[in-house]
Amino acid sequence: MKILVTGGAGFIGSAVVRQAVAAGHHVVNLDALTYAACLDNVASVAGSPLYTFEQADIRDRAALDRIFAAHAPDAVMHLAAESHVDRSIDGPGAFVETNVNGTYNMLEAARAYWQQADKPDTFRFHHISTDEVFGTLGETGQFTETTPYNPRSPYSASKAASDHLVRAWHETYGLPVVLSNCSNNYGPFHFPEKLVPVIILNALAGKPLPIYGNGANVRDWLYVEDHADALLLVLQKGELGRSYNIGGENERTNLELVQTLCAILDEVRPAGAPYADLITYVADRPGHDARYAIDPARIREELGWRPSVTVEEGLRRTVEWYLANENWWRALQTRDGVGTRLGVKA
Ligand SMILES: NC(=O)c1ccc[n+]([C@@H]2O[C@H](COP(=O)([O-])OP(=O)(O)OC[C@H]3O[C@@H](n4cnc5c(N)ncnc54)[C@H](O)[C@@H]3O)[C@@H](O)[C@H]2O)c1
Repeated sequence: MKILVTGGAGFIGSAVVRQAVAAGHHVVNLDALTYAACLDNVASVAGSPLYTFEQADIRDRAALDRIFAAHAPDAVMHLAAESHVDRSIDGPGAFVETNVNGTYNMLEAARAYWQQADKPDTFRFHHISTDEVFGTLGETGQFTETTPYNPRSPYSASKAASDHLVRAWHETYGLPVVLSNCSNNYGPFHFPEKLVPVIILNALAGKPLPIYGNGANVRDWLYVEDHADALLLVLQKGELGRSYNIGGENERTNLELVQTLCAILDEVRPAGAPYADLITYVADRPGHDARYAIDPARIREELGWRPSVTVEEGLRRTVEWYLANENWWRALQTRDGVGTRLGVKA
C-alpha cells in the first residue's frame, strides 16, 4: 500500500513512518518542518526505496493537490498538527490554522483526488486525534467513542473541530474515513518540551523537575511504538466511518510518572542524591484537565489490539534511548521556546 503520512517528521508520525516502511508499505512523508519536526527521526528509513519526503504545509491547498497527483496514494494518515497545549494557550491562532484549516484542506484535497479516481472504496483517510477532545474526568469513569466532546484548551478545541470536519466529510461526501483518539504518548524521539523528556533531560542536567500544580493530574500513558502499531491496524482493519479510542491501560498521576522516571534514572545513571529530590512544584496550567482515561474495549474486541508494554517497561526503554541519543536531543534544545515555561499567560 502507498500511504501519504502527514506530520511524519514529528514524534508519532515518525514512528508510523518507520513502522510502515518496515512492514513493506510505500510512504510519502508530507511535513512542513515546523519547530517540532526533526528529519533525524526518520533517518533510519530515509535511504529506503519505499520512502519519499515532501516538504509542504497543509495550509497550502495547491501543494496538497500536487502531492496527491504526483504520488497517487492508496491511503492517508493525517497526523500533522500543532500539538503542544502550553503553546496553544500562548498562541491559539496557529492551532486553528493548522489543525482546523489544514485538516479542511487535507479533506478537500483527498476528496478531489478520490472523486477523480472514481471513488475507490479501498481508499482510506485516517484522521489521528487525541482523547483530550472529550474534556476532563473525575476520579472514576473512562472515555468511550460515544462520550460527548467537551474540549477545554485551544489545542483540544482545534482537534475536536478537525474530528467533526472528518466525520462530516464522511457523512456528506462519502469520503472513506476512519478516526482514532489516543491518550498521552511517550517514547523515543519525543520533542524535549513535553513532560517525559523534560523530566529526563532536566534530571540529567541536575535541574529542577517541574510538576504543574499538585501533580495529581492523571493521564493514560501509551508507548509511541504501540500507538504506531495500533494506527496501522486501524487504517487497514478499522470499519469505515468509525472511530477507535487507543489507550495504554496505564493510568498514572503526573507525580507517579515523574517518581517512576526518577527511580529508573537512580538505577541506570546514579547521581550523588536521589533524582526525586529535584522535584519542584510550579504554577498549574490554566484550565488543566484533571484526568483522562480511555476505555479501550472497542479496539480490543473488534480489532484484537492491546498495548504490548507496561508504562514501567516503556519508560525504561525511553530513558535508555535518551541516554544513548544525546546528539539528537542536544540539537533540539536550542529551538524556540524549548526549556522555558510556556502557557502561563492566561
Ligand atoms: N503526543 C501525544 O501524546 C498525542 C496523543 C494523541 C494524539 N496526538 C495527535 O497525534 C498527532 C501527532 O502528534 P505528535 O505528538 O507527533 O506531534 P509533533 O508536534 O511531534 O509533530 C507534528 C508534526 O506535524 C508537522 N506540522 C505541523 N504543522 C504543519 C503544517 N501546517 N503542515 C505540515 N506539517 C505540519 C510538524 O512539522 C511536525 O513534524 C497530532 O495530530 C496530535 O494531535 C498526539
